[in-house]
Amino acid sequence: MSVMQIITLTNKQGMQVKVSNWGATWLSCIVPINAGEHREVLLGCKTFEQYQQQDAYLGATIGRYANRIAGAAIDIAGTHYRLVANQGENQLHGGKLGFDKLLWDIKNQSAQKVTFSLISPDGDQGFPGELNVTVSYHLTDENQVVIDFQATTNKTTPVNLTNHAYFNLDGESSKNILSHTLKVNANLYLPVDKQGIPCGDLTDVTQADMDLRQPRLLSDRLLESEERQKTGGYDHAYLLDKTQPIAAQLISSDKKIVMNMTTTQPALQVYTGNFLQHTPNRHNGEYDNFAGVALEAECLPDSPHHPEWAQASCFLQPDQAYHHQTTFHFFT
Ligand code: BGC
Repeated sequence: MSVMQIITLTNKQGMQVKVSNWGATWLSCIVPINAGEHREVLLGCKTFEQYQQQDAYLGATIGRYANRIAGAAIDIAGTHYRLVANQGENQLHGGKLGFDKLLWDIKNQSAQKVTFSLISPDGDQGFPGELNVTVSYHLTDENQVVIDFQATTNKTTPVNLTNHAYFNLDGESSKNILSHTLKVNANLYLPVDKQGIPCGDLTDVTQADMDLRQPRLLSDRLLESEERQKTGGYDHAYLLDKTQPIAAQLISSDKKIVMNMTTTQPALQVYTGNFLQHTPNRHNGEYDNFAGVALEAECLPDSPHHPEWAQASCFLQPDQAYHHQTTFHFFT
């Protein structure tokens, strides 16, 4: 039986990334800034037990379906499948025993790259089909963390894999990310209700003060818009403008670190850590709300119920290969 392991990747610029086979989780990301100064930019816990207890999905690989499926049920070709609900009547992040809580196998490993694999059996959390998944983390010498997701299935099933890292580019122990600047190249976002379930069509970002196309302070009117009041901050999917070279850019409040994000995924969930309070941190203490921001590249929430969002379809067929890649590129 496999045991929980920690794998450390380092590059020639002295950047260091730690990952674990538990949940194929990204544990740590230390970025060298200048002579002697290093910054931990990822939220994380001190012990493995704390990782198992927290419910913020810190750094984890999320599957089989990231974000929510309303009513925890789907229909595929006339067959009704009941999924495991874990947030009221809905399913969040793959169910009670999502991929974030499983021990993955280590398929291969080198100084700058590791690949994890997992077999999710037919019926896992209610989903049809055996899903074979691999997730790899590659730290390049250019200070990029490239996360690659692949999957195949033997029955049609929804697949939506992402990474749930929370970033704080001021350093993980600084108070919050409210003075960070965020830019997201998206013209449309998805309105949701208080439960985070889509409740309308894709909407122009200018309609409800959700525009992030110009770099914007995260604190800017954060809880003044009705949309963000419902969710306690940003917790919204943006449909990415694929004509733009990057999906998003996050800048620390002291401007010492810039993180560019690119992805093959159609959408980006921006979540400002609105409910992070009481999550154990790395220093025997607890994080507060807004301690980090998660930028989750994925397809749209609840898309199995919305065939009209064809540009973000999530169904994987047995004769197809799922392949997505997301890159976080750090500049100092
Ligand atoms: C969701 C939030 C949820 C959080 C859990 C995010 O991906 O969008 O609604 O509270 O995950 O940590």
